[in-house]
Parts: sequence; C-alpha cells; structure tokens
Amino acid sequence: MSFDRILAQKTALCDTVLDRFLPRPEELSDVDRHASQVVEAMRYSVMAGGKRLRPMILMETCEMYGGRMELAEPFMAALEMIHTYSLVHDDLPAMDNDEYRRGRKTTWCVYGEGMAVLTGDALLNYACETALTAFDDVNDRAESRNVISALQILMRGAGIYGMIGGQCADLEAEKDPGAADADDLLYIHKHKTACMLESAFQIGAVLADAPSEDIELLGKIGENIGIAFQIQDDILDVTGSSEELGKMTGSDEKDNKLTYVSMHGLSKARRDVKRISDEALEQFDHLSERNDFLRALIESLITRTK
Ligand code: IPE
Ligand code: IPE
Ligand code: MG
Ligand code: MG
Ligand code: MG
Repeated sequence: MSFDRILAQKTALCDTVLDRFLPRPEELSDVDRHASQVVEAMRYSVMAGGKRLRPMILMETCEMYGGRMELAEPFMAALEMIHTYSLVHDDLPAMDNDEYRRGRKTTWCVYGEGMAVLTGDALLNYACETALTAFDDVNDRAESRNVISALQILMRGAGIYGMIGGQCADLEAEKDPGAADADDLLYIHKHKTACMLESAFQIGAVLADAPSEDIELLGKIGENIGIAFQIQDDILDVTGSSEELGKMTGSDEKDNKLTYVSMHGLSKARRDVKRISDEALEQFDHLSERNDFLRALIESLITRTK
C-alpha cells in the first residue's frame, strides 16, 4: 500500500480516537447544560481536521516498542486536545488575530472571544481528565509508573518550560523583532513547537516501556523534527497556499513576527529544514527498533505543503 493510503488510514484512526474521547453536548445532564456551547466549540475546534501529526507519532512510537494501544489512546486524544487548545488561543485577537484555521473560521470568530478562551481552557482541562483515564487500563505497577512518567512529559512539554514558554517569547519578540538574535529565535521554535513534538515521540515509547537510551534519543529526534517543522511553517506562511494550509498566509508579516524567514531568508530556511530533518533521520536509524512508516512520515515533512 502507498504511503499516502496508509497515512490517510492512520489519520482516520486518530480522528476516531478523538471522537470517542471528546465530550458531546447531548450527553450533558440538565444541570450541566450551561457547558453545552463550550462542549460544542471544543468539538468544532478539534474535529475540524488537522494533520493529527502528534497523536500519530505517539501511536507509532508506542507500536514500535510493542506497547498497548489501550494505554496510548487516552494520551493520543489528550495531546491533540492540548495542541488544539494552543491553536484556539494562538488565533485570538490578543495573540495572532487570525480568522481561518483548519479550513474554517477560527473558534473566536464563530463563538466569540470569551467563549474561545474558555474553549481552550476546557480542552486543556479535559486533556488532563482524558490522560488520567489511562490508569483504568493499567495491569501492574510497572505500567502505572509508565503512565505517571507519560503524564509528566505531557504536562511539562505544554507548560512554562515548553509550549507556553515559547508562546510568551513569540509575543515578546513581536514588539521588537529587530532586537532578537538567532538564539532567541531558536528558543521560540524549540519551545512553542518542538516541545510538544518531543512529547509525542517520547510518550508512546514510555508507555511501551522502551529502553531509556531510546527515550532520550527520541527526545532529540522530536526536538529536531519540531524545529524543522516550525521553520517549514514559517516558510509556508510566505510561499504556501491558504487553501491547502487551511489558514491564511501572510499572517506573520501582518503581525510583525520574528520568523526563520524574516531572520535568515527563504533559501537558508529551506536548506535548514532539510539539514535538520536529515539529522533527525540519522538519529532515527540509531534506535533499537525500527518503524518504516514513521521514518517515511518524518521524510514527508521535509517537503510538506500543508
Ligand atoms: C500548527 O500545527 C501550529 C504549529 C506548531 C506550526 P500543525 O501544522 O500541526 O496544525 P494542524 O494540527 O495540522 O492543524
Ligand atoms: C504557533 O505558531 C505554535 C503554537 C504553539 C500554537 P504559529 O503562530 O506560527 O502557528 P500558526 O501558523 O498560527 O499555525
Ligand atoms: Mg503564533
Ligand atoms: Mg499563529
Ligand atoms: Mg505560523
């Protein structure tokens, strides 16, 4: 079967997992009916479609080390909920002020700003509740310990030492992009984007009880993939098609953003996506197990157009 066919199947599988874990407005009791709009907005934001890259990577590293999907699935859903919350907040007028995402109007455009803030909050909170349900499926103390480690990785990668830290630096740099240097930019890319990808690579392996050297190396692979992914995102904001991306291009220039393209130019940006991704592929070949689909997925990101 072709890579594209397998990718489509795995994307659909991630969608099914998400659909299963997300709450539904019709399930709310009469007492909880006040939450029905926020629950609808959670579904609107998550089920809009997205590449599902993070849950897919998590699923693949779990499978690669022979782990159980019952443990991975709550984490796949939780990670994508946190990622989606970061997008809902990232699009707010107070942040990037964007009106399109995943091919539809952004959450704040449809539900209002206050409700979009709450939708992001609700997704983060529900992600924690969802990940915790993995404990319902643990068979022994070793699995419990792995679930606790996975929770630590998930929450740390999304927090002040991870994605939120990067988003803070991104907003800070917007005030005076000229004052920033290459290290500031690397901090932003690493934190706002790479930390959550690192989590994706590591959590699946941790749940599958992979060797610690492999988990460490998967962290480095995730970091490289994440940096390359954000450089490509910066490139596509200049050269991509809004239709294909499902979000408006030119958003970074509109916001006066510090990006890899604004600092280093398009051709270095393109070269560095290839160089950093090749480094990740080289590291990937040093893992104790192999996963040809995951390797092909990493390769496909080098030339992604959405
Ligand atoms: C967008 O992430 C935000 C960045 C980290 C660049 P994705 O490009 O993975 O967005 P979706 O999930 O496919 O919509
Ligand atoms: C966002 O980076 C990264 C997040 C943590 C949400 P961008 O602001 O460049 O992402 P897009 O281009 O809006 O998807
Ligand atoms: Mg942003
Ligand atoms: Mg943005
Ligand atoms: Mg961007």
